[in-house]
Parts: sequence; C-alpha cells; structure tokens
Amino acid sequence: MPDYDASRLHVVDHPLVQHKLTLLRDRNTPTKDFRELVTELAIFEGYEALRDLPLEDVQVETPLEVMTGKRIAGKKLAIIPILRAGLGMVDGLLKLVPTARVGHLGMYRDEETHNPVSYYCKLPEDINQRTCIVVDPMLATGGSLTAAIQFLRGAGARDIRCLTIVSCPEGIKNVLDFSDYVQLYTCVVDRELNQNAYILPGLGDAGDRIFGTR
Ligand code: PRP
Ligand code: URA
Repeated sequence: MPDYDASRLHVVDHPLVQHKLTLLRDRNTPTKDFRELVTELAIFEGYEALRDLPLEDVQVETPLEVMTGKRIAGKKLAIIPILRAGLGMVDGLLKLVPTARVGHLGMYRDEETHNPVSYYCKLPEDINQRTCIVVDPMLATGGSLTAAIQFLRGAGARDIRCLTIVSCPEGIKNVLDFSDYVQLYTCVVDRELNQNAYILPGLGDAGDRIFGTR
C-alpha cells in the first residue's frame, strides 16, 4: 500500500500512452521523435487533467435546426513549465487550450545535493485567478516540483494540477505530502531512484533528450 494520499494521484495508463512511453524510454529514439512523443503524451495527460472543466450552454445553428450545445465556461488556465524539460510539454497543452497563458519557472538540480536551484520566474499577473497546470516530464526526488508549487502558492495560486510523464514513489510522496491541495497526473510510476537521483528504469535526462544537448 502506498504511504501517500493515492486519491490525488492519477495514472494515465491508456494503451496508447503505454505504447508511446516505451518508445520514449528507448535509448535509440532520436531527438525529433522524443520531442514529438513528449508533446503527444502531454495531450493525453491534459485531456485527463482537464476533464472537470466547467461547461455552459450555447445556442448553435446546425444546417437543420437550432440546438443548445456546450462550450467551456471561460475558465482561465495557465500552463507553467519547469525549465527546461517542462517546455517540451507546453505545445501539447496549448493544442488543447490555445488561449491558455504560459508562465515559466526556471530551475535546475544541483548535481551534488540534488536540490533545485531557481534561476527564473515569470508568471501571468492574475495567476491567483487561474487554474495552474504545472508541467515537467520527470518527478524524481520531488524537489523541483515542490519548489514550483511553493512559488505558485506564494503568488496566490489555489488550483494547482501537476503533470509529469515518469514519476517514482519517493517524489510522489514528497509532492503529495507537501501539498494537500495538489492533484498529480503521471503516465507511470517507476521503481526507484539510483544514487544520482535518476529514475530507474526511467528514460535518462529528459531535458537533454528533448533538446539534444547530450
Ligand atoms: C529534471 C527534470 C525535473 C527535475 C526532477 O530537470 O526535468 O525538473 O530534474 O528532479 P527532482 O524531482 O529530483 O527535482 P533538471 O534539473 O535536469 O534540469 P533541465 O530540465 O534543465 O535538464
Ligand atoms: N531528471 C531527469 O531528467 N531524469 C531523471 O531520471 C531524474 C531527474
């Protein structure tokens, strides 16, 4: 039994997601394909994470008659990638919600301590009125994501949903224990962290694989 609040963990394990995830893990997957897969997985996750968006009635005229249809009731969204790797998920989410604003949180992990080091923050001014979708493909120790959540809370955000692609139990516990208001979406829960705080079996360094820097 997990020792965290599993009701706030949503594993998006549709067969298409599992298939694409295997391609993503493969060390021989080239940069271009890796980037496309991250975008596609972000779409699947976004679809799940936004399934409770409020709707309102709207009149629409079909070629045959007038009817009452539904449309999204003007809910304001902000997509917040954690740089760098989170950038890879932004286009997928913008395909779902093209009008969303995008904020940026720059953070990297110190190679020795594995603690996040913050170097940039630019958020929409009205972040406290928006549903915040924080995106980062990897949830390892949870240091980066908890720092991002802390930032957003400090800026007044109340509805925070986090989307990762590969997570591990340690990071999930840290994030869910840190914040009882956060919903966490991931495509898979991997086994463990290695001594360098990399996820096993994982997919390696997501930022390097998205941007082709190694
Ligand atoms: C990676 C990843 C997360 C973080 C996860 O970023 O994209 O932000 O590590 O690790 P954590 O859960 O232990 O904090 P990294 O620091 O490698 O920076 P990058 O995206 O610029 O490559
Ligand atoms: N960051 C990554 O990119 N990969 C990991 O496995 C852990 C942190």
